[in-house]
Amino acid sequence: MINLSHPAPSFSDAEALGIARDHFGIEGRVSSLASERDQNFRIDASDGSIWILKAVNSSEPKDQSDFQTALLHHLEANSPGLPVPRLRRSLQGQVLVPVQSQSGEQHFIRVVSWQEGEPLAECKRTPEVLQSLGQMLGRLDRAMQGFMHPGALRTFDWDIRAAGLSRQRLKYIDDVEDRALLGRFIKRFDAHVEPRLPTMRAAIIHNDANDWNVLVDTKNPARIAGLIDFGDALHSVLIAEVAVACAYSILDLEDPIGAAASIVTGFHAEYPLQEQEVELLFDLIAMRLVTSVTLSAQRKEKTDDNPYLAISEAPAWALLRRLDAINPGFATAIFRHACGFDASSGAKAIAGWIRHNSSTFAPVLAGHPATLAKALVPYGDPKNAMTVWSASQEPEKATDWWDSYCRENEVALGIGPWGEERSVYTGPMFESRFVAGERRTRHLGLDLFMPAGTKLFTPIAATVAEVLIEPDPLGYGCLIKLLHEPEGCPPFATLWGHLAHEALTRLHQGDVLAAGDLVGEMGAHAENGGWAPHLHLQLSVDTALSALDILGVGEARYLPIWAELFPDPADFIGLPRETFHQTGQSRQGIIAARKSMLLPNLSISYAEPIKFVRGEGVWLIDDHGRAYLDCFNNVCHLGHAHPDVVSALSTQAGLLNTNTRYLHDNIVTYAERLTATLPGDLKVATFACTGSEANSLMLRMMRAHTGREEAIVLDWAYHGTTQELIDLSPYKYKRKGGKGRMPHVYEAIIPDSYRAPPDWPREEIAKRYAENIAEQIEVMRKAGKAPGLFLAESIPSVAGQVFLPDGYLKQVYAMVRAAGGICAADEVQVGFGRVGSHWWAYEMQDVVPDIVTMGKPIGNGHPMAAVVTTREIADSFNNGMEYFNTFAGNPVSCAVGLAVLDVIERDNLRQNALDIGNYLLQRFEAMKARYDVIGDVRGRGLFLGIELVTDRKTKHPATEIARAINNGARQRGVLMGTEGPHDNILKLRPPMIFSRANADHLIDVLEDTFTAVLSNQ
Ligand SMILES: Cc1ncc(COP(=O)(O)O)c(C=O)c1O
Repeated sequence: MINLSHPAPSFSDAEALGIARDHFGIEGRVSSLASERDQNFRIDASDGSIWILKAVNSSEPKDQSDFQTALLHHLEANSPGLPVPRLRRSLQGQVLVPVQSQSGEQHFIRVVSWQEGEPLAECKRTPEVLQSLGQMLGRLDRAMQGFMHPGALRTFDWDIRAAGLSRQRLKYIDDVEDRALLGRFIKRFDAHVEPRLPTMRAAIIHNDANDWNVLVDTKNPARIAGLIDFGDALHSVLIAEVAVACAYSILDLEDPIGAAASIVTGFHAEYPLQEQEVELLFDLIAMRLVTSVTLSAQRKEKTDDNPYLAISEAPAWALLRRLDAINPGFATAIFRHACGFDASSGAKAIAGWIRHNSSTFAPVLAGHPATLAKALVPYGDPKNAMTVWSASQEPEKATDWWDSYCRENEVALGIGPWGEERSVYTGPMFESRFVAGERRTRHLGLDLFMPAGTKLFTPIAATVAEVLIEPDPLGYGCLIKLLHEPEGCPPFATLWGHLAHEALTRLHQGDVLAAGDLVGEMGAHAENGGWAPHLHLQLSVDTALSALDILGVGEARYLPIWAELFPDPADFIGLPRETFHQTGQSRQGIIAARKSMLLPNLSISYAEPIKFVRGEGVWLIDDHGRAYLDCFNNVCHLGHAHPDVVSALSTQAGLLNTNTRYLHDNIVTYAERLTATLPGDLKVATFACTGSEANSLMLRMMRAHTGREEAIVLDWAYHGTTQELIDLSPYKYKRKGGKGRMPHVYEAIIPDSYRAPPDWPREEIAKRYAENIAEQIEVMRKAGKAPGLFLAESIPSVAGQVFLPDGYLKQVYAMVRAAGGICAADEVQVGFGRVGSHWWAYEMQDVVPDIVTMGKPIGNGHPMAAVVTTREIADSFNNGMEYFNTFAGNPVSCAVGLAVLDVIERDNLRQNALDIGNYLLQRFEAMKARYDVIGDVRGRGLFLGIELVTDRKTKHPATEIARAINNGARQRGVLMGTEGPHDNILKLRPPMIFSRANADHLIDVLEDTFTAVLSNQ
């Protein structure tokens, strides 16, 4: 073993020059260089070359000197491009020349080439140059892979594996606190690091890339030009190479961990590190410094003074103090991130699991935060009054400001986003421990602002890990840490801050909470650390961090690392991303643009129009991240953005879209699948793009088949937007802008059982209404005409979700057919299994129409429509004129249509519609028993109506109340409509995937709204 205290050789400059000349044939000038154990001279040869002449410490065993020689030979042979010293042989061909000093001691002399460059110690240590240093070391260690020499197996104080020996040198440290400081690092080393060292990769390493041994390119300060002094090389753990380089290069820097991370990045790029190696790095850096300061103290005792030893001592102490204040886990996270690993093992898996499963989590608030009207709390604005009052610890004023903002803007939930830059954190505890002079300003939790007392529930099962009070002003107040160990996900923790103190006695460590269980209540300012009431919710992927060690606010420069350690809880509580970022034009901007550029009679729903930016299943999400439960848009039959439909559409669109003039499988497959859902002779399909087109095509077929124009329609019906269909739509021609009934159109009374005259016997209602059709036919007959068509929706919808009385269509169809007409069912709104019991709503009447028209739900939002009829009618229509419709029946539309049919069948959606529809009807009936204003509830499957009347006897329509309920439901986040000649029927047509939970949500909102609206009457 080398005796570290053995004095260095002491040749004079003249002697050194003599050795150079006599043994190596070098003439020139000499100057001496600093060295710890050896003696080094720079020789500027007369031929312009520069050399280092090294007199090796006489205590250095011969096998070690041989080792260095072999090492330099190895590098020369295997990596000639590496900028490291090259050996010069003596005149006799030796690389180690024995020379006797004046004192009689024999020393070996070695001459190596001079490396050009500025010592890193004298250069600016930028991230770039440090990264270059890491790269250089990585290259070096790669070049040394596979090299072995007995001299490398040294026992040596500077071997990081021996760093624990520093404990024996603690006695040389005079100051008690300093000793305690070192003791803490040594304790960690003994407990966590040393036991793991034997399992680390080992190799021959340089082991002394201190900033005097590292040379920077004088022309390019971002590049390392050379590495010198292999005197400490040995066989040790590979990671020590990085640790040693870091320990010296980061001294005195404002952000030492960041600087070390640059070295790590560079090394990893050249020589990939393993995660377990990086895990030890922080402690190894510290222990290199501990070794240095303890050896220095020991040496001071023994040799009195050696300037080389003391060179890095003061900065090393300063750095040790800074490292002592840093959480090793956070520093390790920075190093891991520098290698591209998860900042903490499993971090990405946790974030991914939460993202994929969050739709199944229980709501954190009584109302799901996605469904509430939200606004950002203005903590991002340092000048805002609420921010100023919060920072100056005036929570009452801050709370008043926020409360009145919420009242004015109808905001239910305030959001303090993750990652927000904030000026409210004023205390000394917010000074960065990583970066000198910097403050922690980025919010690493997510705040939910609601009134004090608001109850908070855990979205997934949890075990209570800690419940405590943090009493500091602007601290957390009552604080809870929960541990979550979901299946298929690494464990993680959640932190719940600023709670009411009631949790302290209610919850205890080890308590198990199920998803949806109460965690706590938002505390008032007296209990929550002195803030406007809110929850600070934070995730931590490191479950070992104690509640108070979870960093609530972090440095901006480390945000990407904090993002992994403390992921944004937005997904955890199901906050739509639109809550935080708006895109496109404002609502007002779009309204103005529509006014100036679009047809003025395009109507917009609601006095306060909504801008939706995304749809997801039963939810429509507005531009501020509020999710509305969609109970109205029956077009998105399977729910918005159904993945199967989106995939079918994009796959086919990416492949081919043409028209029916070319052969394609999709159209015939689709026609076969679609007609298979229809009974009887309804076997010929053709396609269109809209419900109106389908009805127009049906009219052409009717005319071709019957040779007639005359049509009977039901009052208040709507069949489409072309003029010929407006003429068949009393809902249009009888209202504003309409031109009244055309002579070929005959209007039958709406067969509305609820509004049937009270003196009609129940079992005769169908017959009595059907008589009105007979009357129409009679009117025609008297005028020498006969009906070509009877057209009706199978459940008149615009007329107010009217369910035809049993037997009605059977009687009507018989009359119309007897008079030579055909019967068409408009299933544009009600088809595709919406009624649950049947594919097609006319089936409820036990009839088979001659033509069925389909639209809206057929493509789940993709514009397509269909007409299905009999062979006989199809043949009549085939009168020589071709039917071509550019877009209709194209391969993309047919792929979409097929996907819709597949999903309805695969997911049993008709059964779902029936089950949920029945449940809703039952709940509506229960409401009817409590609210007199509900005159009638009706529905089948997910086609439902609630008729409101001011008086159940007179059945006077409660139009205003219906409107108020519709608006109130919208305010509460549920979309529905009003319908009927008096607009007094609440119309509900939710997607076929509507769940029991969705139904309960709808009922809750309806109950709330009814209560609120009726109390205002
Ligand atoms: C019953 C009925 N038929 C036909 C249509 C027309 O369909 P589209 O708007 O797709 O042309 C509608 C549209 O609301 C409708 O409700």
